[in-house]
Amino acid sequence: MGAGSARHVAAAAALLVLAASATVCAAQQLRRNYYAGVCPNVEAIVRDAVTRKFRQTFITVGATVHLFFHDCFVDGCDASVVVASTANNTAEKDHPINLSLAGDGFDTVIRAKAAVDAVPRCRNRVSCADILAMATRDVIALAGGPSYAVELGRLDGLSSTASSVNGKLAPPSFNLDQLTALFATNGLSQADMIALSAGHTVGFAHCNTFSGRIRGPTLDPTLNSTYASQLRAWCPPNVDQRLAVSMDPVTPRDFDNQFFKNLQVGKGLLASDQVLYSDPRSRPTVDVWAQSSVAFNQAFVAAITKMGRIGIKTRAQGNIRRNCAVLN
Ligand SMILES: *[C@@H]1O[C@H](CO)[C@@H](O)[C@H](O)[C@H]1NC(C)=O
Ligand SMILES: *[C@@H]1O[C@H](CO)[C@@H](O)[C@H](O)[C@H]1NC(C)=O
Ligand SMILES: *[C@@H]1O[C@H](CO)[C@@H](O)[C@H](O)[C@H]1NC(C)=O
Repeated sequence: MGAGSARHVAAAAALLVLAASATVCAAQQLRRNYYAGVCPNVEAIVRDAVTRKFRQTFITVGATVHLFFHDCFVDGCDASVVVASTANNTAEKDHPINLSLAGDGFDTVIRAKAAVDAVPRCRNRVSCADILAMATRDVIALAGGPSYAVELGRLDGLSSTASSVNGKLAPPSFNLDQLTALFATNGLSQADMIALSAGHTVGFAHCNTFSGRIRGPTLDPTLNSTYASQLRAWCPPNVDQRLAVSMDPVTPRDFDNQFFKNLQVGKGLLASDQVLYSDPRSRPTVDVWAQSSVAFNQAFVAAITKMGRIGIKTRAQGNIRRNCAVLN
């Protein structure tokens, strides 16, 4: 895959966060091996489908991770982000911010669902929300990140509206206090927020999410000037809105702690990433995780596991979708 076509794929922009009322009280229904009785091989089936997609394009890594974030942060981890719009409903994925959601993330979920449903005993027994959680775990491991046991037992949401996205996502201009506050409403700590921000070690951001940092009237002084001139070349004025660049300029295909090393030299692409180093309150954490990939991996697994418990639907609030893109 050439850089040119990679850059044209709509992909991860800002880290998206929920500021609403999702509760974690239904999270007790989650457990490992949830499907042992109904679809014992589900994790292997999903991993196989995800691996095949990954071999076609590594863009699925950032795209799938970002889709999972978006899903959990907007009305809980319930696959509402996968639902397509209909004549009378504009779905979550068609909110104007959706440029950050790349088609390869959706495609990964759709393919994994088809693989699961191809096994008669598994057909329509595994939620799309869980398939997305498993696929996210799998792309992270395929890109060299930590492997972890994923909790399962989510149900799919019964609605998906573009209006539900409003106010729940962090713009790339957010400062440390704003980021911390948004995560706190989801029961996530500042350390969780910093760890999850490192999801930007994979994925892309559109030029317009950082264009204010690379051109006058005032350049962002926290941005590395060598990097800034590269970015100006990649993102000329009046650039195609769909053009996106890798958020990790050093190891864009690897899920690693390079994200934190980049911040130490002013190479955080989004202002809301670089602020984690500029602000003296979060800098010590960045320094520790830049130094130790073991410590980062541990923190990331803890944080994404907590994130996967946001807003879990109960039997009364959810079901298992026959088609991930269509409400039953
Ligand atoms: C949209 O239309 C479908 C039938 O085509 C109907 O079942 C559904 O309730 C409608 N949704 C809304 C929000 O009006
Ligand atoms: C984003 O929304 C537009 C319509 O607003 C739609 O045409 C496009 O397919 C959506 N993109 C994705 C990746 O869902
Ligand atoms: C900017 O990046 C270059 C490498 O591309 C590095 O040598 C330099 O130290 C960085 N500048 C700062 C201020 O960190």
